[in-house]
Formats: sequence, structure tokens, C-alpha cells
Amino acid sequence: MTRIDLDGVEKTFGADRVVDGVDLTMAAGELTVLLGPSGCGKTTTLRMVAGLEQVGGGEIRFDGRRVNEVPPDRRRVGMVFQSYALYPHMTVAANLSFGLESRPDRGPRRRARSDERARVLEIARLLEIEHVLEHRPRELSGGQRQRVALGRALVREPEVFLLDEPLSNLDANLRERMRMELARLHAELPITTVYVTHDQGEALTLADQLVVMHAGRIRQADSPGTVYERPADTFVAGFLGSPGMNLWALAPPGGGPSREHGDVSLPADLLLAHGVPGATVTVGIRPEHLEIAREDASLPARVRCDVRVVENLGSHLLVHGALCADAAARVVAKLEVGCGVRRGDRITLGAREEHVHLFDAETSARLGRTGRERVAVGAARAGAREEAVAR
Ligand SMILES: Nc1ncnc2c1ncn2[C@@H]1O[C@H](COP(=O)(O)OP(=O)(O)O)[C@@H](O)[C@H]1O
Ligand SMILES: [Mg+2]
Repeated sequence: MTRIDLDGVEKTFGADRVVDGVDLTMAAGELTVLLGPSGCGKTTTLRMVAGLEQVGGGEIRFDGRRVNEVPPDRRRVGMVFQSYALYPHMTVAANLSFGLESRPDRGPRRRARSDERARVLEIARLLEIEHVLEHRPRELSGGQRQRVALGRALVREPEVFLLDEPLSNLDANLRERMRMELARLHAELPITTVYVTHDQGEALTLADQLVVMHAGRIRQADSPGTVYERPADTFVAGFLGSPGMNLWALAPPGGGPSREHGDVSLPADLLLAHGVPGATVTVGIRPEHLEIAREDASLPARVRCDVRVVENLGSHLLVHGALCADAAARVVAKLEVGCGVRRGDRITLGAREEHVHLFDAETSARLGRTGRERVAVGAARAGAREEAVAR
């Protein structure tokens, strides 16, 4: 298994720096997902790892060895693209073993035919296409064709597996099934894998390491759970989640027990705990963490809004609105179907303290990222408890 390092990797097309100083380590055997909007540089990064695109600056290393100048057919990489052209006149078996016949990295001696056959069968079994080995691509379903494309890359026993939006040609149901298949496949064949997608569902299900890119740069690289729960900046916060996180500007405090900006109010100790300076901050709350506010103190963060549109999605309502005093400040909440909220209502939503995210309004970076947050929240809570006891 191969560990991959990207060190200050760059790529410029004409005047555009489309990959702009990417530093990334992909551990041996892990699956790394590059996620980001169209045009952010995912494919270009992947193609540089494959050797299909020259590295414009920086260095790519496989197991510590620089590969910038190594041609693609000597990198032991298997690739699957969105358009997985199979050979239409060949059977599935021939499509699969075709990859075995051009292996300069394995020296002049071709492996024995029986070995080849065994490897093809093994991969076909793994991908559950052994019953269509004698069929031609046109006789297969979309999902089966996709499996053949995966198989064609895998029979070559790649050390590195590179996939670029491999499921985007499939319909939604099949896509979901195939992504579970890919997760199973990776568990059974733990090859170092780089998977490019703009689909966050795929990214969250498949990734060991999730890398969110924007405009040629990495905004965050971490476990999917961490990226979702502790987004590094407002871009990641808004990009991940469906819909993404609500983000509102909160003006400097005017004193008093809580910090209010018209319709958004947060408990003062939460702000103190984040070490929030006296400047504007951006408050983030995910739609699924908002509820109709109750009288008790269980939901200390409050948001007042006017409801514009209510979508009933069966399992929940998606309520779209805006802050009462600022029609441009959008609010989205996932609420229970029975909550009775209607278009035109003015409602107060609440969230628990641990579901409130704070970002520096100028740099967009998460506040309290260094671990100070947890320590400080703990200290503030302990302080509040002591006060309560003293009383
Ligand atoms: N061969 C090329 N020549 C010029 N521009 C390119 C080339 N390949 C990609 N680009 C540009 O580089 C940017 C990043 O592209 P790409 O890596 O394909 O993004 P993604 O895969 O994230 O959608 C885009 O603006 C794209 O138009
Ligand atoms: Mg792409």
C-alpha cells in the first residue's frame, strides 16, 4: 500500500492558478475524497497524482519518493472516470483482462494466462459480475457497466486507485446502491484511493479523510464527522449539509446579558467562551438543529424569523424564511411535520448551545478552533455551576 503526499502542489492554465498550493497527506490504504464545487480543481489535482497532467509546482510523493517526472504507466495507478468507455465489441471478460496486457511496470514477461484468468474471476466475483463475463457492454445495465469499469482498473492490481466522479452517470437510486458497493469494495480491497466528487452524500459515506476544496485550495481536511460537526470556515459550513448551515452576522454587543442583533440572540457566556472579540461574528446553526423555541431555557440560542415557504418532504418540513428585520438574511429549518408552522407566520426558533458555531466575520475562520473552545466552554459551564451552588 502506498502513502501519497502532496507538498505545495500547484497548477496554472494560462493566467489561472487552478490548483493553488495544495498540501495533503493520504495515508496508505485510506480513501480520501476531494469534495468541492465544479471548477475548484479536483480533477486537475487527481490528474497530477495520476501523472496525466504535469505538476506545475511543488511535489507529489508516493511512499516518500518524488513522482513528478514518473510517467503514468509507471505509477501503478488505476483510474476510473465519469465516462468509462468500455470496448463495445469485446466481452466483459475481454474488457477486464485487456488491462493486463499493457503493463510495462511488470517487466517484459507477461503473467501466465491461468493467473490472468484467475485474477479476472476474482475481481468479477468481488464486483458481482461473474455471470455476465461473456456478455457485451450493450447487454449490461448502467450499474453493471460501471462495475466493469471499476474491475478493469482493479485487475491490474493498482497500488493507488483514482476515481473521478465515477457514479455521476447513474440515476439516483443506482448511485446510492453503488456508493455502498464502493464502500464494501474498499473495505475488502484497502487500496490507497482518491475519490473526486461534488456529491456530499458520496463524500460523507465513503471518506476516511474528507478534503473540501474551493478555488484551488484546501479549506479543510479531516474525518467526515469532524468536517460536518466542526467546519473550519463559513465556506465549508455552508457547502456541507443539505441545505447547508444557516449563517448570520451578529453585530458587536451593546452590553447586557446577551448579544443581540435584531433577531439573533446568543447567551453571553457562549460568546465569552469562544473568546469572541468585540467585533462582528458570523453565527452558524444547521437547519436540523433548529426547533420551535420553548419557554424553558433548553434552547438558549434564539432566532426570530418570518416564514416564506414551507416544503413538506414527508419525513420533515423544510421551512424557508428570513430574519424579521432583514429580508436578505435567509433562515432554513428542518422541523417536524406536525409542528403547525405556516407560510406568513412569525416564529422564534431555538438551538442548543453545542449546536451554535461561531466564525470570524472578517476571515470566515471558525472561532475557538484551537481547542480553546472546548476548554473555555467547560470552564464557563463550571463557573456557572459554581455560581449556582454559591447562590
Ligand atoms: N486543460 C485545461 N486547460 C485550461 N483550463 C483548464 C484545463 N483543465 C481544467 N481547466 C480549468 O481549471 C479549473 C479547474 O478544473 P477542474 O480541475 O476540472 O475542476 P473540478 O474537477 O473541480 O470541476 C476550471 O476552471 C477549468 O476550466
Ligand atoms: Mg472534475
